[in-house]
Amino acid sequence: MFPSMKQVALLCALAGLVLAAPEYPVPGSAESNDVFDGYVSYSIEFASFPDFAGNKTHPNTFSDVLLDNLGQLQGHKPYIRVGGNTQDYALYNQSLPYALNGTTNPSRAVDYPTTVIIGPSYFESYDTWKDVKFSHGFNLGLGGNRSSGWQALLDTVPLACKALGNGKLYVWEYGNEPDLFSTSAQGPVRPANWSEATYVSQWHNGTRQIKALVQEHCPETLESGNHGYMAPSFAGVNNYLKEPAAWAAGLDGDQDIKLFSTHNYISGATSPGVTLQGTLMNHAVTKRAVDVHITEYNKILSQSSDPVPPLVFGETNSLYNQGRPGLSNTFGAALWGVDFNLYSASVGFKRVHMHMGTNFRVCVVSLFSL
Ligand SMILES: *[C@@H]1O[C@H](CO)[C@@H](O)[C@H](O)[C@H]1NC(C)=O
Ligand SMILES: *[C@@H]1O[C@H](CO)[C@@H](O)[C@H](O)[C@H]1NC(C)=O
Ligand SMILES: *[C@@H]1O[C@H](CO)[C@@H](O)[C@H](O)[C@H]1NC(C)=O
Ligand SMILES: *[C@@H]1O[C@H](CO)[C@@H](O)[C@H](O)[C@H]1NC(C)=O
Ligand SMILES: *[C@@H]1O[C@H](CO)[C@@H](O)[C@H](O)[C@H]1NC(C)=O
Ligand SMILES: *[C@@H]1O[C@H](CO)[C@@H](O)[C@H](O)[C@H]1NC(C)=O
Repeated sequence: MFPSMKQVALLCALAGLVLAAPEYPVPGSAESNDVFDGYVSYSIEFASFPDFAGNKTHPNTFSDVLLDNLGQLQGHKPYIRVGGNTQDYALYNQSLPYALNGTTNPSRAVDYPTTVIIGPSYFESYDTWKDVKFSHGFNLGLGGNRSSGWQALLDTVPLACKALGNGKLYVWEYGNEPDLFSTSAQGPVRPANWSEATYVSQWHNGTRQIKALVQEHCPETLESGNHGYMAPSFAGVNNYLKEPAAWAAGLDGDQDIKLFSTHNYISGATSPGVTLQGTLMNHAVTKRAVDVHITEYNKILSQSSDPVPPLVFGETNSLYNQGRPGLSNTFGAALWGVDFNLYSASVGFKRVHMHMGTNFRVCVVSLFSL
């Protein structure tokens, strides 16, 4: 993702630029953060994954080449998280003859389906890219709300196991942004008394069920130490549920959370006053948005006697609600991406997953789904 100094020099040479050479004093030592490999990674909206990856008969080779190129630039292929709002709508029908039947309800969301049924061939999409590790997001939203949701978990763990068991599993995920479950603008899936304690008990119920099925269907992931989760995948730090309270309620009681995943958007597609210069190309705004996560994570570190898993952005991008044309899909937003990712690395984030879905407006071009 980031060009080396040599490449920068070459680019400048090619552009024939004459650079002034200001000198900046560089401190002899500074705090360092050893980020993980594939530092800039991606998150693909659950319902968009078949578009981005294709399937056995129609693999999306464009995406494959793109990921190869990004891997070569960065020294390691990006990790792919498959999840997002639509993971918590996904039910399962084993007779569906194609990957995904999505129905959009504009009164809930215009950019993605809120009724989602996947079939067995959904899992073919995990087989189209070389040497990529994935996280698969299971449905806690409906899983803890109705029996068809719970049944989807029982039906799809064996399929996800088969698709990812053989060395492709990065981590599992159970629930996307559960801090919004009782207040979601796309329709709540929990009553008003939804709490950290209830969340933690439902998360344990589901993740223990997943582990029991993993034991049966892909025990090699347990033996190789690859079983584990990214969690809590909260949308932010100011919502109805709070990360430190979820941690204090025993979220990691089973010690199987491998990545402490939180989400961030700098602002919203329709938030008043959002501009390219004032919002995205404004380092102070980026810094403030990232720093609140460090404050929250530090609270957890100071309250926890057990080790806390490393911090990642499991989902992030510029403007929530899929971005806004003329702002989040411009080259200025690309500069924001460089600033955001470098700043996050400088304060302790180990990996960042930039989020994208079919026809979302958070990219200069919709790279994966061309
Ligand atoms: C499952 O999919 C099949 C094939 O599309 C369809 O006929 C059937 O009605 C679906 N079942 C449910 C419960 O939606
Ligand atoms: C594979 O992808 C093609 C192209 O999108 C689609 O027409 C076909 O139905 C898919 N096959 C399955 C089994 O989902
Ligand atoms: C697709 O989902 C819609 C909404 O749930 C349903 O009415 C339709 O029958 C489904 N189609 C198939 C082929 O299952
Ligand atoms: C399921 O979601 C509905 C809102 O869609 C909510 O009223 C209900 O309390 C939820 N049930 C459970 C068991 O969480
Ligand atoms: C939360 O509310 C639901 C119904 O809205 C009720 O069934 C449940 O017992 C309540 N839970 C708690 C912990 O009060
Ligand atoms: C887990 O949740 C499912 C579905 O709501 C329920 O059937 C099951 O009894 C729960 N298990 C425990 C141990 O709470």
